[in-house]
Amino acid sequence: MALDPSDPIEFINAALAVRMRAHAPYSKFLVGAAVKADDGTIYVGCNVENASYGLTICAERNAIAQMVAAGRKRAVEVAITTMGGHAPCGACRQVLAEFASDLVIWLVDVDSSGKPLSAARTTLNELLPMRFDLA
Ligand code: THU
Repeated sequence: MALDPSDPIEFINAALAVRMRAHAPYSKFLVGAAVKADDGTIYVGCNVENASYGLTICAERNAIAQMVAAGRKRAVEVAITTMGGHAPCGACRQVLAEFASDLVIWLVDVDSSGKPLSAARTTLNELLPMRFDLA
């Protein structure tokens, strides 16, 4: 699906901008994420890799951590920017589920210069239909 005027351009722009600040010297795979909280505030995160590879933190979880640190506990929308428009990893899906029963998720495909090519709309319920939940 191509980007069109009904897409949330401002929100996606936040995820595009933070992607350029990713620390990904090992994989070279830059990820940007924007999370919109229930009060409309947007929080962003990028992936932060480490020479001890397993310590890497995903962009989505960094954005969620920013939201929680700012005092918000409910997310309503997420945009994820990658070359290829990839879906979030399983761990990030579960972390997103901690803060929303469902979420609109935009998977934004970017070119090698970081410009958006297309955005696919999905939901957390579609990506994680049978989740672990203690509630
Ligand atoms: N990564 C994310 O930031 N989010 C995901 O949902 C999956 C993967 C990062 C981790 C690592 O820095 C790079 O992408 C390649 O796996």
